[in-house]
Amino acid sequence: MARIDCPILREQVMSAEEAASLIRPGDALGISGFTGAGFPKAVPVALADRISAAHERGEPFRVGLWSGASTGPEVDGQLARVDGVDRRLPYNSDPDLRRLINDGTVDYLDAHLSHTAQQAWFGFYGKLDVAIVEVAAILPNGLLVPGTSVGNNKTWLEVADRVILEVNRWLPRDLEGFHDVYYGTALPPHRSPIQLTHPLQRIGDPYLRVDPAKVIAVVETDAPDRNTPLSPPDDLSRSMAAELVDFLRNEVSAGRMPARLLPLQSGVGNVANAVMEGLLHAEFEHLTSYTEVIQDGLLDLLDAGRLRSVSATSFGLSPDGQQRFLENLGSYKGKILLRSEEISNHPELIRRLGVIAINGMIEADIYGNVNSTHVMGSSIMNGIGGSGDFARNAYLNFFVSPSCAKGGAISSIVPMVSHVDHTEHDVHVLVTEQGIADLRGLSPSARAERIIDRCAHPDYKEALRDYVARARAARPHARHTPHLLDEALGWHARYLREGHM
Ligand code: COA
Repeated sequence: MARIDCPILREQVMSAEEAASLIRPGDALGISGFTGAGFPKAVPVALADRISAAHERGEPFRVGLWSGASTGPEVDGQLARVDGVDRRLPYNSDPDLRRLINDGTVDYLDAHLSHTAQQAWFGFYGKLDVAIVEVAAILPNGLLVPGTSVGNNKTWLEVADRVILEVNRWLPRDLEGFHDVYYGTALPPHRSPIQLTHPLQRIGDPYLRVDPAKVIAVVETDAPDRNTPLSPPDDLSRSMAAELVDFLRNEVSAGRMPARLLPLQSGVGNVANAVMEGLLHAEFEHLTSYTEVIQDGLLDLLDAGRLRSVSATSFGLSPDGQQRFLENLGSYKGKILLRSEEISNHPELIRRLGVIAINGMIEADIYGNVNSTHVMGSSIMNGIGGSGDFARNAYLNFFVSPSCAKGGAISSIVPMVSHVDHTEHDVHVLVTEQGIADLRGLSPSARAERIIDRCAHPDYKEALRDYVARARAARPHARHTPHLLDEALGWHARYLREGHM
């Protein structure tokens, strides 16, 4: 019990099975965790066993899952496999749960990550019954040392009726000091400005607070985060990263950005990591980052002294990156701050800091609308995550994707996206391995020309140009954003008919 120094909370220590027995069918659970970091490792597994046993007896048992973002296989995967989830928000990347969402078994509320905490407070999601939150330690006065992500933990601890804490010995005790939890948020009309003007500025506490009277169980664990290995950047992602870095260089030359750039946000994944690698070999120094997730590329930039400070809500490291972080923890202190996701993704702060946002997409249309979430308009991939929070409020945003998917069978540039996450009004620059399209200040027709010229794959350029020409000719009085509706929607239907999906 070395990590549990609070006498009142020490009395609540019990096994994961005992803690899981306190969860009731139909409960909504607020789970810690973000991109596989900081999720509870033991209670959800014990709960899945309990649900499975209940189902064998013919008793219904499902729960709602509210998280920070994606968790780990011990939470989403395990509970999905026993059909234990009835509702999930705000972001998921687990393949088993995705299948249940797409076959209609699980209700999924895909929400902007900056919205989740406040909408829980507003009461938009109903009541939260139990918070299950992983921490690194409990101090004598009952304050909690957060783990490798903060996510929505502050809010879940505040709004839940009951709380279960997992204290994970695997987490370094020295994580204390890496967090900044802001307790100044209020509900409208009592809100005031959030006084943050630099990514590394402290505006909160290093600890999470919990009302000890709500804590019904404390469970000790010793288990690692998920940590997916990152494949090294391939030629495709390297070429997109190189174009993007070159674009930033031109922005500096044109006087639209300082030489040290503006705070960087980059989505998760290999392309984002390749961009960080590109920056490592570029001339930029004294960089800062105001982002959601710290991937290996950001550690590389910190190690090289190129990056001065990072604000995020979570780590999302590969096993190698994690090892490096743990071995050199001390050297990162004072350079990294983890915040609640309502602050890491806050529109006010992203706009004030002038963030450069770089995110992946599934497809974009010729007018610049972007789909980040749905394959063929109907099947969700992951969710919007923080891409809307950052892109909408960024100084400059990039959406990045290979120009084709499924081995070249599907164009990522289409006449009309099959689902809209980011509208033409929000999208600044599109990047594919074919080139980069700067859409700023362009009318829809000019955007169409530029996107097709610069970003579409050569195999699809002619069909897209032909579409625009015929759409313009078809309705001379409707040329602002010319479309042939039957054909625009038929574009995706053709892929389905041909059996690509
Ligand atoms: N049509 C059909 N399928 C497509 C497609 C298209 N135009 N583009 C991609 N896909 C499929 C891929 O084939 C792949 O499917 P598979 O897993 O069955 O092979 C899947 O979508 C993922 O594509 P991939 O090329 O591996 O891209 P990625 O890992 O870079 O992810 C997103 C791209 C858009 C799914 C991902 O960036 C995402 O979830 N974004 C939304 C959230 C976000 O931006 N978060 C960051 C904010 S901080």
